[in-house]
Amino acid sequence: MSSAKPFYITTAIDYANGKPHLGHAYEKVLTDTIARFRRMSGEPVHFLTGLDEHGQKVQQTAEKLGLTPQENCDRVAVDFRQLLVDLDISNDDFIRTTEPRHKAVVQKYLQQLFDAGLIYRADYTGFYSVRQEQFVLEKEKLENGAWPEIYGEVTQVTESAYFFRLKNYKDWLIGHLEANPEWIYPAFRRNQVLEFLKEDINDLCISRPKARLSWGIELPFDREFVTYVWFDALVNYVSAVEGKGLWPADAHVIGKDILVPPHAVYWPCMLKALGLELPKKLVVHGWWGMGGAKISKSTGGGGSILDNAQLYGTDAFRYYLIREMVVGNDADFNPDQLAIRYRADLGNTLGNLLNRLLSIAGKNTAGLVPAAALAGDEKDAALRALWAATAPAYLDTAMGYRFHEALDTLWVFVRAMNAYIDERAPWKLAKSTEPADREKLEATLAHLAEGLRLVAVAIAPIMPTIAKRLHECLGLEAPATFAGNFEWSGVTAGKTLAASAILFPPVVTPEEAAAAEAAKAAATAPKPAKQPKGEKK
Ligand code: MSP
Repeated sequence: MSSAKPFYITTAIDYANGKPHLGHAYEKVLTDTIARFRRMSGEPVHFLTGLDEHGQKVQQTAEKLGLTPQENCDRVAVDFRQLLVDLDISNDDFIRTTEPRHKAVVQKYLQQLFDAGLIYRADYTGFYSVRQEQFVLEKEKLENGAWPEIYGEVTQVTESAYFFRLKNYKDWLIGHLEANPEWIYPAFRRNQVLEFLKEDINDLCISRPKARLSWGIELPFDREFVTYVWFDALVNYVSAVEGKGLWPADAHVIGKDILVPPHAVYWPCMLKALGLELPKKLVVHGWWGMGGAKISKSTGGGGSILDNAQLYGTDAFRYYLIREMVVGNDADFNPDQLAIRYRADLGNTLGNLLNRLLSIAGKNTAGLVPAAALAGDEKDAALRALWAATAPAYLDTAMGYRFHEALDTLWVFVRAMNAYIDERAPWKLAKSTEPADREKLEATLAHLAEGLRLVAVAIAPIMPTIAKRLHECLGLEAPATFAGNFEWSGVTAGKTLAASAILFPPVVTPEEAAAAEAAKAAATAPKPAKQPKGEKK
């Protein structure tokens, strides 16, 4: 193992006020995919995820349910931990902001900033949105004098509050963004931050009076207040790794809605004020919608979408999410497209290729991968050459977060193997008594086995279980790294293949089952007796 600092990667921590939905699931799968790619590239990785458990919404949700906020958080935490299991997420830690390890660090930093004069007390009169848990500006009022819908009820309040000197850091932050064009991925999101910083920014109110909100971390220098939930939540990235030598994070994976201002403005300025290094990168993904509608806890549409992980299998669901969304852009969740990808890309292209190899080898080489001469003819050479071009392109695009492109490239190779087997027609070669045909047959099987092995290595970060099963079918163990396992080799020679395998069993969607049921009922229903013409009942 290398002695370098582990690649430290995080997800956003989810609000503990509802069930997990597709947005949460996707972010975990994306981060897990990045983490697994890094591990397979030989880097040690530390992967953190968790729950954001304080704040007004969490308090209100608990109240509605007749629970204490902590009871509700404990309940929600069970669901979110289960989500990680269901999606085969390889996180190393799970932080909850109600844990003492987190609270202690938040209070330490608050005190540090207060002592340095970077947090000050002032009276503030303003308009407050309960739904957004923030003060809103009068200029945001609509033409008719009403507040935008997203703010819910807005009331004028005057209160004493504590402020973090955010303004002090504006010019420095602009400089940082300009000097580090790659700090935010994808690059176009950086402009959004620079746009935001063109306007004047206010110091950040980091306190909430306990009278209004008690569910939070007390300010260490004034027990009448709790900490603003974002100031609390962002610190999780540091508090979870206190004393572990893991900071700075190498990548924070977040959705586009929480880039500006929390992650791209508050967080870097907080870190600068604390004398801590900035995260190396913000990886910002877009949002999933469904037929143009929002997927979120408030619309409640999430649960049934996540059932697809069970219906198609975790790996296939992960494949769909990673294949379908271009990191940075929005995507539409389409159940029909999921079914198509499952059947076409996975079942008919990858699964079927394996089946064909296993069945031909079972019939002709007693299930052994022949130790065929590597050279073969021009078709064999072309397949090997295609792999030689595929492998670096696959890794390059995947390490650059362009996973959709990486998979696209890989499937060109998988389809080429299908074309190769069709052209070679090993079932015909098997019938021939010519020694040259036997040689060709053996070369074909050897190339198919090796090609499938390489595909299995490639897909491991996205479909870890399928990768393991594919290796098992080839008589191998899945390796831990790309290095030494990603070039065309002879390691499959002489291995015993599985007799058969169904990697992607046929799936009947609930809609198809219902349609089949209805068709059956219609077909078996007794036909209404024919009435003689003219007679009406
Ligand atoms: N608690 C804050 C984050 C604090 S991080 C210090 C929060 N929580 S959240 O539950 O609302 O969202 C968690 C993550 O899920 C965010 O990165 C958000 O962008 C992502 N998603 C929520 N809905 C989403 C979609 N419909 N699609 C994709 N991701 C979305 O914000």
